[in-house]
Amino acid sequence: MKPPPGLKLIDENGRRMDGRRPDELRKITMKAGVLKRADGSCYLEWGNNKVIAGVYGPREVHPRHDQDATQAIVRCRYSMSPFSVDDRKRPGPDRRSQEISKLLGEALSPVVLRQMFPRTAIDVFCEILEAEAGTRCAALTAASVALADAGIPMKGMVASVAAGKIDNTVVLDLRKEEDNFGDTDLPVAIIPKTGEIVLLQMDGHFTDDEFDVAMQYSIDACHQIHGMQKQALREKYLDAAVEKRMSEPAESEVML
Ligand code: CDP
Repeated sequence: MKPPPGLKLIDENGRRMDGRRPDELRKITMKAGVLKRADGSCYLEWGNNKVIAGVYGPREVHPRHDQDATQAIVRCRYSMSPFSVDDRKRPGPDRRSQEISKLLGEALSPVVLRQMFPRTAIDVFCEILEAEAGTRCAALTAASVALADAGIPMKGMVASVAAGKIDNTVVLDLRKEEDNFGDTDLPVAIIPKTGEIVLLQMDGHFTDDEFDVAMQYSIDACHQIHGMQKQALREKYLDAAVEKRMSEPAESEVML
């Protein structure tokens, strides 16, 4: 869709609407271990996206005929809150959320060491509280931290981001107007530890050269995001260690 008259997605200096350079990410913050009843969880803010991911399992599979006798199954549910977008979203699953749930499950399954937990399910819930483009990538990034927080053995975490094209310029991490009025959207997810690609979708067109630039931007950004994921997990365990130390009696008290 063409932008409305007067809306400039990128200026003559190559700066985007929010002042970002083409290869710059929006601000990302994440916190691991935010849900008490989940085995693992993560709250993530990415630009104006707000996402919470909760992991439950490995646990018994219901319905039983979904069980795999050789390995765990990874089930994902991506869900957008009715209040997460400008027009109220009808609650419950729709085609889009079913598609995103499926691809999140397919992206996370190869990283989990599923053979360690035969006949079980690992359930991953991603709730979008506020959406402003890039929610599937944000959900995948948060889900991965939640899985690690749950102590699920994995061969690495998954980091994800989208690249795209606006006004003939390849850019990283589209915001809402860039997604709506831009020409191309390319969500990518990789396992930074191994370099494997676990998600690659494309809406629109790229030339071969543009595709290479978009992939390079995305891969570099995924490594950056992976650093943030590891930091969120480190912070949780540092906080827990400090809390434990505070709750233990000081050495002098023990001696008394
Ligand atoms: O969120 P993501 O970019 O992964 O998926 P999309 O289908 O390309 O949606 C782009 C954006 O459109 C979402 O992030 C929302 O901000 C918005 N959207 C909406 O306003 N209402 C919907 N029912 C679905 C999406």
